[in-house]
Amino acid sequence: MDQLVVRGGYPLKGVIRVSGAKNAALPILAATLLAEGTFRLFKVPGLDDVFTFTSLLRELGAVIETGSGSEACPDPVSGKSPCLTVDTSKLSNHQAPYELVRKMRASILVLGPLVARMGRARVSLPGGCAIGARPVDFHLMGLEQMGAKLKLREGYVEAAAGRLRGAKIYFDVPSVTGTENLMMASVLAKGSTVLENAAREPEVVVLGRMLNEMGARIRGLGSDTIRIEGVQDLKPVDWEIIPDRIEAGTFMMAVGAAGGELQLENVNPGHLEAVISKLRECGLHISTAGTALLVRRKGKLRSVDIKTLPYPGFPTDLQAQMMALMVQAGGLSVITETIFENRFMHVDELKRLGADIKIEGRSAIIRGVRRLTGAQVQATDLRASASLVLAGLAAYGTTHISGVGHLDRGYEKIEEKLAAAGACIERLGGLSCDHLP
Ligand code: UD1
Repeated sequence: MDQLVVRGGYPLKGVIRVSGAKNAALPILAATLLAEGTFRLFKVPGLDDVFTFTSLLRELGAVIETGSGSEACPDPVSGKSPCLTVDTSKLSNHQAPYELVRKMRASILVLGPLVARMGRARVSLPGGCAIGARPVDFHLMGLEQMGAKLKLREGYVEAAAGRLRGAKIYFDVPSVTGTENLMMASVLAKGSTVLENAAREPEVVVLGRMLNEMGARIRGLGSDTIRIEGVQDLKPVDWEIIPDRIEAGTFMMAVGAAGGELQLENVNPGHLEAVISKLRECGLHISTAGTALLVRRKGKLRSVDIKTLPYPGFPTDLQAQMMALMVQAGGLSVITETIFENRFMHVDELKRLGADIKIEGRSAIIRGVRRLTGAQVQATDLRASASLVLAGLAAYGTTHISGVGHLDRGYEKIEEKLAAAGACIERLGGLSCDHLP
């Protein structure tokens, strides 16, 4: 089992390049199922979730080439590498098997495009997961409203439809992948679709822009009402994945935890307004210039209260990392999780490092301690793993984090990026921090 070993107490200094966004790459890969031909995708991050999704697309009949050097992606593609080509000319299968879906809930994103293009789909139902029940009822209800006939059999959802027809669909709460799935289902439908109380996340907006570039007719992106006029067919396009705002936020918080100064490159500061504002409130100095962001910590962290909310609110995907800062800030802070009901798995592990946290319902009440101390801890999910890395950077002594396979689902070489910026962090094996003073 993979382990990360972190020795705390080394301030960060250097430049880190942020990768393409996982949560933008996955729906964009799903969207390639909607047209026949070859797509070229740039800045696709090298993450386990992306590998799982490309395996799924191959299972459906897509031909995928990675890296540069292929005819479609000559090397180097002017600063836009890495490049991935996805040829969806021939789809030979409409089934997303359990073995792949169980690895990653976002596999459900193939459901909408498959029904839209092939008129049928058989997709394994994602089970529960570490951070809560996470149902997919909105996805299914929306497809039914668009005329698909659904059956749940042997753990799979089986969907069949002629051409889907437009519908008015209301989300009880804004769902990111729900909005993406139904937007993809509706672009080829007959007539108009309205998605109400839709998600406004940047990843939803860029998916919509890509679909429009492919020939779709979508309005209202970035608002809570998205209107789609169905078209007959779509064409493949070249597309670049936006920077990962969650990875960028994690590195900003790493400076909060370890101290020092980092320059982050390939950032869209506009996607991080709530995060930047909260981090300034707790004492970080942050300046932006185009797609670069400079973050610096001087002095002690101040405690702040946080409530996770759909975009443009504070993202749930940065809640655990923020908690790793608050456990060492001066004073009392309250972190309230409103999106997922069980997203406090990191709390017990942070306590093993000496944090003082009490859970009351959906809130964590945190009293900052003077110093965390290294210990053996267990990563339970993707963002919880990142919070333990940040806590380890701050802790006195050595922290051993097991279960870091979760990290590879959503962070590209996080330990290499942090080590190059002065952190003492290594995967498995002995610690070699010879390069550090
Ligand atoms: C996406 C992100 C994930 C992020 C989350 C919230 C991807 C691949 N994943 O997950 O990183 O943490 O948004 O920002 O983009 N819900 C239902 N029924 C449904 C769908 C959702 O009740 O059919 C509820 C969920 O339980 C949750 C809320 O809606 O309480 C929002 O979840 P949702 O936005 O759908 O999360 P994901 O799209 O799975």
